[in-house]
Amino acid sequence: MKILMVCLGNICRSPLAEGIMRNKVAEKGLNWEVDSAGTGFWHIGESPDPRSVLTARKYGLDITSQRARQIKPHDLDHFDLILAMDESNYRDILRLAYSEQQQQKVAMILNYVHPGHNRSVPDPYWDDDGFDQVYRMLTEACERVIDAHS
Ligand code: 4NP
Repeated sequence: MKILMVCLGNICRSPLAEGIMRNKVAEKGLNWEVDSAGTGFWHIGESPDPRSVLTARKYGLDITSQRARQIKPHDLDHFDLILAMDESNYRDILRLAYSEQQQQKVAMILNYVHPGHNRSVPDPYWDDDGFDQVYRMLTEACERVIDAHS
């Protein structure tokens, strides 16, 4: 499997999702590719938000080597599964898809925990206290994604 985690800025939520998924994939000895990207361009080249770095570190993960990038049309060919953090990311990713095969690769990550509910991972950018909750939601979601595809 090749999995791409996508949020708006690629500095808060999707870097955590990438770090959590990379760690779980390694623990389980799976040969999966894991990456992340943002739908927006504002933070290209930046390190993850310091609050995401600290939250990851608290749980034993180092995400400091990640750098933000913007999703590109080729990602919809390269990756098998493109996981959106919220509905706005989901719509923006689908705008890049030009075939049904590409559209079918895109899903809301929390639908792996609450199927069909289209719940969003809350954007913690304006809420310092939101990062721990995001971490816990993403941990559960990543476990379900692995259960569903391994
Ligand atoms: P992310 O969070 O999409 O989880 O990386 C955000 C990062 C930056 C902004 C918004 C959300 N921003 O407005 O710059």
